[in-house]
Amino acid sequence: MEMIEFEHPVARDFVTRLRRKNAPPVQFRAYANRLAYLLAVEATRDLCTVPAQVETPLEKTLGEVLVDPPIIVPILRAGLGMLEAFQDLLPDSQVAFIGMTRNEETAEPVWHYSSIPNVSGKKVIVLDPMLATGGTAAAVLEYLFEKKASEVILVSVVAAPEGIARLGEFDNLTVITVCVDRELDSNWYIRPGLGDFGDRLYSDGI
Ligand code: URA
Repeated sequence: MEMIEFEHPVARDFVTRLRRKNAPPVQFRAYANRLAYLLAVEATRDLCTVPAQVETPLEKTLGEVLVDPPIIVPILRAGLGMLEAFQDLLPDSQVAFIGMTRNEETAEPVWHYSSIPNVSGKKVIVLDPMLATGGTAAAVLEYLFEKKASEVILVSVVAAPEGIARLGEFDNLTVITVCVDRELDSNWYIRPGLGDFGDRLYSDGI
């Protein structure tokens, strides 16, 4: 696993805005979306292009176009808060969904829903903003690598050391995050964290 802590002052500012407990969902969604654009630029840095002819108003020239766009997989619900930005940057990408919750007593992931196309030989970008225990992420990665995905980039906003350690065993995996926080608490929330990302996006709870 390769770990990238995304170093950018605007990203750190946005995460601070997301952490504020009084930020209402409308504001939380706006900053999650803006932050996702920055992370999408980082996550797509190594995509391949091929030369392509293009005619400008003045002459023909050679440009470049993306090939083999990655499949984008937001983990429901929280990952939806980052999807629009990734789709905007990768308009030809397929989007597939995985719905997971965690069992609140054991923190083990419970798989509710998936719509995954053939990922064999494909690069996959997984959107999972809060990397906590890493249980959900590990279950998704095991599935994707079993189905022969060539490479996975997992994009998060805040990660706990425990989650990062859990994913250390995976090859062909890059984890991108903005902040590595201190720890998980006894309810498996990231501290200091920002609360429940899905709730912050779609309701007013933490
Ligand atoms: N998921 C969240 O949304 N927040 C946490 O702190 C941990 C997991």
